[in-house]
Amino acid sequence: MSADRAPDAGEGRRGEHAAGNAAGSPATGGSPAGSGPGNPGAETSGPDSARRGVKRRHLLFGGAAAGLGALAAAGAALSGGSAPAPDTGAETAGASAAGTADRAGITGAAVVPFYGPRQAGIETPAQAHAVFLALDLKPGLTRQRLAALLRLLSDDAAALTRGRPALADTEPELAVHPARLTVTFGFGPELLALAAPGLAPAWLRPLPAFGIDRLSPDYTGGDLLLQLCADDPLTLAHARRMLLKDSRAFTTLRWAQSGFLNAAGSGPAGATPRNLFGQLDGTGNPRKAEELDRVVWGGPDIRPWLENGTSVVIRRIAMNLDTWDELDRRGREESVGRTLDTGAPLTGTAEHDEPDFGARNSLGFPVIAESSHLRRARSDDEQQRIFRRSYNYDDAPGAAGSSGGISNSGQIFVSYQADVDRQFVPIQQRLDQLDILNEWTVPVGSAVFAVPPGAPEGGFVGEQLFS
Ligand code: HEM
Repeated sequence: MSADRAPDAGEGRRGEHAAGNAAGSPATGGSPAGSGPGNPGAETSGPDSARRGVKRRHLLFGGAAAGLGALAAAGAALSGGSAPAPDTGAETAGASAAGTADRAGITGAAVVPFYGPRQAGIETPAQAHAVFLALDLKPGLTRQRLAALLRLLSDDAAALTRGRPALADTEPELAVHPARLTVTFGFGPELLALAAPGLAPAWLRPLPAFGIDRLSPDYTGGDLLLQLCADDPLTLAHARRMLLKDSRAFTTLRWAQSGFLNAAGSGPAGATPRNLFGQLDGTGNPRKAEELDRVVWGGPDIRPWLENGTSVVIRRIAMNLDTWDELDRRGREESVGRTLDTGAPLTGTAEHDEPDFGARNSLGFPVIAESSHLRRARSDDEQQRIFRRSYNYDDAPGAAGSSGGISNSGQIFVSYQADVDRQFVPIQQRLDQLDILNEWTVPVGSAVFAVPPGAPEGGFVGEQLFS
């Protein structure tokens, strides 16, 4: 992916962005983005907030008649005359898909470009924090309004990911550290049925029912996915709030899930993250560019539904740490088929050694058990590969969904693949039939989304579905 563009190129687009919102929101009868009783924090007391209140009323009641200029300047007005500009060190230093810290090495300054042929947040090395939002389209939303929503959210994402305020950003100071923020869009069946029914891929439907599933509607389905990832949780909280504010005239929130890995900089860059069972999780992922191309974006054997598009499966999987605690270290390693310290297969010594499934111990049993997670997840069929990009969750013990012990933890399992039916489903079917890990894991949520290509400069995510 190319380096991010110069900041001023984005400023012109704030006008288009603003126009879509200002002209569109009142027609729905919903609150304009960022206003109304749903946003009590928008106008607080004090001289600063009084000034903001005045500016804000300009913004809210001026509507389309206020002109594009006024709206384009909203970010600046709200911050008292000048919108905070990001430290562009990372951009001028040549930000890559991985994002780069600026010359002083500040994590918050790193930018991952939003625009590009493929959406960011997939091949991007996993950021420390993630939020997954599944939105439902409001009943009666028209195709035209859907396009307006996608433009609005794309413009917000483009601004926030480069450290600029979103439209009518009430806390623009919270936008200044992009910290490799990415916003990745996924489309559910209802959204595609409205936008472009002829283009809906066959696999875009709920996964088949699995015997291990105990799915809750609280974490299942959805029309529009927004996957937000960043190395700074404050940046992420702000981005989530801004995107939800700007989408609330069009959508309702179906579910939200927050996940985390190690804090940015805790370990060597590119190291495989650990899950809450203490295992290295992600070792078997495709790593070479050509493997990723084929698995995620499609190849000669598996065509993507749209060029540079893919699919994402999100499964919330509860992990019972309380009963996992009862298992000794050897049992833990055998359940997966890899060691806990290095992640090496039980037949090897280093993390990326190839497992030898034919190896036997002195008693003649396979060293890597037939029922281990590694053996069951691995297929000889090259088409059955996926790219996992999961996050941990660790909620308050005792809350709904907890096992009654001292943990309420698990994994937000996230996998990208060109074709859900050909790549993901056979693996999940095998794990459903047999996998020792099932003793300690329970899928409690499930959703499938089509991931459209990225937006070109000046466009919006999903635009090709409307042409
Ligand atoms: C909480 C649930 C899960 C946990 C804790 C877990 C953990 C692990 C671990 C520790 C490994 C070995 C290291 C690695 O290659 O990443 C692994 C591998 C793998 N897992 Fe899972 N996993 C879970 C759920 C799933 C699910 C739902 C799927 C797909 C349906 C899946 C598919 C795979 C695949 C494809 C591999 C790589 C196998 C290979 O090396 O070829 N896992 N998992």
